[in-house]
Amino acid sequence: MDKIIVTGGRRLQGEAAVSGSKNAALPILIASLLTDEPCTFEGIPELVDIKTALKLLKGLGVKVEEEKPGSVTLQARGVDKLEASYELVKTMRASFLVLGPLVARFGEARVSTPGGCAIGARPVNLHIKGLAEMGAEIDLVHGYVQAKAKKLKGAKIYLDAPSVGTTENLMMAAALAEGTTVIENAAQESEIQDLAAVLNKMGAGVAGAGTGTIHIEGARKLGGVAHRVIPDRIEAGSLMVAGAATGGDVLVRDMRPDHLDAFILKLREAGVELSVESDRVHVKGDGIKSVDIATLPYPGFPTDLQAQMMVLMSVADGVSVMTENIFENRFMHALELIRMGADIRLEGNRAVVKGVASLSGAPVMATDLRASMSLILAGLVAKGETEISRVYHLDRGYERVEKKLGALGAEIKRVRA
Ligand code: UD1
Repeated sequence: MDKIIVTGGRRLQGEAAVSGSKNAALPILIASLLTDEPCTFEGIPELVDIKTALKLLKGLGVKVEEEKPGSVTLQARGVDKLEASYELVKTMRASFLVLGPLVARFGEARVSTPGGCAIGARPVNLHIKGLAEMGAEIDLVHGYVQAKAKKLKGAKIYLDAPSVGTTENLMMAAALAEGTTVIENAAQESEIQDLAAVLNKMGAGVAGAGTGTIHIEGARKLGGVAHRVIPDRIEAGSLMVAGAATGGDVLVRDMRPDHLDAFILKLREAGVELSVESDRVHVKGDGIKSVDIATLPYPGFPTDLQAQMMVLMSVADGVSVMTENIFENRFMHALELIRMGADIRLEGNRAVVKGVASLSGAPVMATDLRASMSLILAGLVAKGETEISRVYHLDRGYERVEKKLGALGAEIKRVRA
């Protein structure tokens, strides 16, 4: 297994360009299942999760052409399998998103349930409930969800939690359902808005994406689409923390600051100097102060930036109370940060982080995608060498991270196993 070795203490300086969004790309690639016409997407990052999604789609019979880096054309004309295996779904939970589009277009699907996850239980009950409300007959057999419906019907659905994946699954199903679907308490994330843009280009009538109530007018047939996915707001935020935590001077470009409002305001409150333009943020870090953080559904502070922010708070002046409200076990990185000298006390879904003068490099283990980025960030600010193992988590979601940070002056290298 590869390792990443970071030698800390360098002040990062320069420019970094943000890649396309993994979390926007995954449902958008899957949306190609809704039509037999070609769908071309740009800005698709080169990541393990994207490879997994393409493998899944190919396995279903979708023709996949990767013309040039970042660009892929999918055509779901020859779909001859309506099943997503346990192997694929357990590797990447977003594979579960094929359920809605497959049932909507082909009348049936068999998709494995994902099972547990390092950061929390992450059930799929809301996805299933929503599809049932649209008229799908659902059975749970041998760990698989089997769904059948001659024709899905528009319905009014209330989500008990504004789940991102559920909103996406149901939006895609509703795009080919008969009549109008209304999703109440829908997720409002930027990625939802990007998926809505794609579905609208394909011929569905989606209104209200980005608010808590989404209306989806189903179409009898959907057509092809060309679309560039939005920049990855979580990668952008991670790069901004890298600049701030190292006392650096970093321009993060090709991003959408308007997708990161809560995060940017919190960084400002923490004393990070930020100059924001429409597609870039210039970050200067000096004299960071502690701030309290509570993760919340969008537009609240993103849970996917909690681990990275914890690193900044670990070396800030004061005490920060960080509350994780989305996932019940998302503090695994804290235990590794403590090994690097951070002063963190965990109390249920709260972490009390008392800033220390410096961290010290240590061998640490990545436990999940965002945690692995936080350990890299900790390595950048720590004295000495940090060796991060299990970096396959990182490769699921950060494109060329060593190159991007290296170009900013970080001393970072990958040791291939
Ligand atoms: C997506 C993101 C992930 C991010 C998360 C929350 C992708 C590919 N992943 O994950 O990076 O951390 O949003 O912003 O976009 N829940 C249920 N029942 C369900 C579904 C969800 O109880 O059927 C709960 C989950 O356990 C969790 C909360 O709802 O506590 C939010 O999960 P959800 O928004 O669905 O996350 P994902 O879509 O899996």
